[in-house]
Amino acid sequence: MKSLLKLERLRKSYGERRLLDLDGLEIEAGHAYAVTGDNGAGKSTLLRILAGLEPGDIAGFEFRGVALTHGRLPDNVRHDIVYVHQHPYLFHTALEHNIGYGLAARGIESAESRRMVEEAIAWAGVDHLRGVPPAKLSGGEKQRVALARAKVLKPHLFLLDEPTANLDGEARGQVIALIRQLVHDNGSLLIACHDRELVELPGMRRFHLENGKLVEA
Ligand SMILES: Nc1ncnc2c1ncn2[C@@H]1O[C@H](COP(=O)(O)OP(=O)(O)OP(=O)(O)O)[C@@H](O)[C@H]1O
Ligand SMILES: [Mg+2]
Repeated sequence: MKSLLKLERLRKSYGERRLLDLDGLEIEAGHAYAVTGDNGAGKSTLLRILAGLEPGDIAGFEFRGVALTHGRLPDNVRHDIVYVHQHPYLFHTALEHNIGYGLAARGIESAESRRMVEEAIAWAGVDHLRGVPPAKLSGGEKQRVALARAKVLKPHLFLLDEPTANLDGEARGQVIALIRQLVHDNGSLLIACHDRELVELPGMRRFHLENGKLVEA
């Protein structure tokens, strides 16, 4: 078993309220995990802490063998973890700039990166949306653009927050198809979701978050 992420004891409180009290969490490379839990259970908070977007009280954190030091992950490790928001924010710019945003932010701009962006556009099936102002895209289209923007970074871990929430019909199916492919391609994913079809994808391992504890489901 190849450990990708190993977390020892994570606590998170808001004021008097202890939201998360995890004994530990281990994620194996090349596997997908679904985290279910009621609204307000703390799924998004957990993902945001793992992404380094929110502080948490963590006893030990190891990612690809690198330990967390001084309470925060080194940039090169943090860059390996990509969080995709339930309602992704897109910039008021062209589709290819939105998808290439993360690469540009890391100073990667080259013929090769443009090729990678084009590949991601084709993968997500959003080529026909090039002329559409980002604000006008539907929820499903935004989610597909966000998945392309994440994939192009080739992260070692995808953290997907309710990627199909508020989607139905064809839009939901298209997003599930992309995630199915990431799972099939041995991506490492941690997905907060209620969507049964996602939870039951082949190869998916399951956790349930309740009363601050994460248990295998
Ligand atoms: N900054 C904050 N200050 C105080 N409470 C907060 C803060 N952020 C989140 N919370 C509370 O923490 C709880 C967990 O929120 P979180 O968004 O992680 O839940 P969730 O499991 O993702 O829920 P959902 O299924 O609705 O997305 C909620 O009750 C929320 O009100
Ligand atoms: Mg949430």
